[in-house]
Amino acid sequence: MTGRVGLQSSSWKTSAVVAYESDSWVSALGCTLHPGGAKLTAHIAQLASLAQEDNVLEIACGRGESVFSLSQKYGCSITGLDMSQKLLSEARNKAASSGEVGRLTFVRGDAEVLPFTDGAFDLVFCECSFSLLPDKKATAYEINRVLKPGGKLAISDVIIRGEFNSEWAEGTSVPPPLAFCFCIAGAMPLESYIRVFEEAGFRKVCTEDHSAELQRLAYRIVANRPAGFFSGSSANRLPGEKSWKQLFSEARPGYAVIIMDKPAEGGCR
Ligand SMILES: C[S@@+](CC[C@H](N)C(=O)[O-])C[C@H]1O[C@@H](n2cnc3c(N)ncnc32)[C@H](O)[C@@H]1O
Repeated sequence: MTGRVGLQSSSWKTSAVVAYESDSWVSALGCTLHPGGAKLTAHIAQLASLAQEDNVLEIACGRGESVFSLSQKYGCSITGLDMSQKLLSEARNKAASSGEVGRLTFVRGDAEVLPFTDGAFDLVFCECSFSLLPDKKATAYEINRVLKPGGKLAISDVIIRGEFNSEWAEGTSVPPPLAFCFCIAGAMPLESYIRVFEEAGFRKVCTEDHSAELQRLAYRIVANRPAGFFSGSSANRLPGEKSWKQLFSEARPGYAVIIMDKPAEGGCR
């Protein structure tokens, strides 16, 4: 399940963006849309040895919260890329009012076709978003292309720890909107993510399990969701007789951090 083509891919991408544009997310969770929030972002930056002189790309940056927190902490230059015009304009407005415009750039683009030159970045971040992309193989190659030799890739994402036998996982249909909101639409087992990156030329540095953070986030969503948030609709009905509860208990979603590097000739940086 690493590649899709044509119309199915384009409606998949639209769903993966629309799911996160709602202001209801902000009332439920604030501007950070990944398990572990800013604390996990800071931990990942440490694992990836982020340094002040690094030129960083954050893919699928959403409202830009991690871009802001990393640039404030490390003083590095960061480019945030997202496909949502709405989320990017919120991020740009915040950058303008924070006076941090110089080091921060927000670019609209598709993660599968990165609008940057080869070897432009030292570190690529991608939080709770890689799983949402329909063509993971193309994206992994693109990330490798825009990284300098010796550069690092830091991903955190939803992983499948059990069985995930949905129709859409087989690539025969586009998932319902709720599957994007729960980040389960294109999630894979940890080993499958690693395989996709290794095939694109990366080498595994380390992985960490942060599944408890996914559970905490789920509790926060349930406790804080405004009326009407995730309201049931026929579009969210699962194929066959399966309920969402059944799907989750079979799939047993978790959350993992994956750090990979792009080997430099003669070793890593
Ligand atoms: C779960 S949110 C995560 C946002 C941010 N990384 C965070 O942790 O707060 C997923 C993000 O992926 C973006 N996205 C989905 N598909 C994309 C694509 N093909 N290219 C770029 N961004 C995409 C959405 O617009 C959304 O901002």
